[in-house]
Amino acid sequence: MSKKFRDFLKDSIRKTVDFSITDQSRGIKPPPAEKPCNPEDRRISLIKPGDWKSIHKVSVEAAIAQRKSRRSYTTEAINLEELSFLLWATQGLREKRSAVRNYRTVPSAGCRHALETYIAAFRVEGIPKAIYRYLPMSHQLVEVVKHKDLEDLLTQAALDQSFAGKSAVTFIWTTIPARMEWRYGRASYKVIALDAGHVGQSLYLACEAIGAGTCAIAAYDQEFADSILGIDGVEEFTIYMAPVGKV
Ligand SMILES: Cc1cc2nc3c(=O)[nH]c(=O)nc-3n(C[C@H](O)[C@H](O)[C@H](O)COP(=O)(O)O)c2cc1C
Repeated sequence: MSKKFRDFLKDSIRKTVDFSITDQSRGIKPPPAEKPCNPEDRRISLIKPGDWKSIHKVSVEAAIAQRKSRRSYTTEAINLEELSFLLWATQGLREKRSAVRNYRTVPSAGCRHALETYIAAFRVEGIPKAIYRYLPMSHQLVEVVKHKDLEDLLTQAALDQSFAGKSAVTFIWTTIPARMEWRYGRASYKVIALDAGHVGQSLYLACEAIGAGTCAIAAYDQEFADSILGIDGVEEFTIYMAPVGKV
């Protein structure tokens, strides 16, 4: 196999970027920090940090020690508080300092946060079964689409890894690369993947704190996953998935 593909993992590409002509350097407005949605779209307000009653304190040490990939879940639902906690842990807003600097609970190269979080909610108390998108700025969900046989679609999207459709909720992360390209040009792609890894690990640890489990999924049907979410596969596309359920 060509060793050329290994270059993706290197940062040599940075030396080929003329940072004086990136969109940021040219004074072009950055893409929105959060994908906009229509005002008429149905939104669900999530429970804010500080108002959680059922999220018990678990030490970081315990969460790290227990963490493992869990592919088998009970049929129990998760509640809105638990879902709020998982979304906050993976993309929650920590501090909005300016239009271009919004700090989250996870790190991101250049603070660009080029990811969007979708969830296929199968069994979340009080939430109809559908695909939703997380809005970190307002800590809300926006309904994206209702599909028939959503569990089957998710299993198919995960290349028949059936646990993707047997979870209480399956996370699907997409990227909007333009958000990162605005600052880093073609040196954006490796750091987007690194960002996704941090998000995945936060989900693993947060799951351990609520008696749930998850398993990262990077083997999926790209075009099918994008079509379920109704995204174009160019300006926005799926990069990672993770089913979550009680264990
Ligand atoms: C980037 C990444 C992609 C993965 N993709 C899959 C996947 O598609 N299907 C799966 O069953 N497990 C997947 N896993 C889980 C790994 O198989 C698992 O982390 C590994 O076997 C070690 O087990 P542990 O997580 O319990 O320590 C993935 C893990 C990572 C980090």
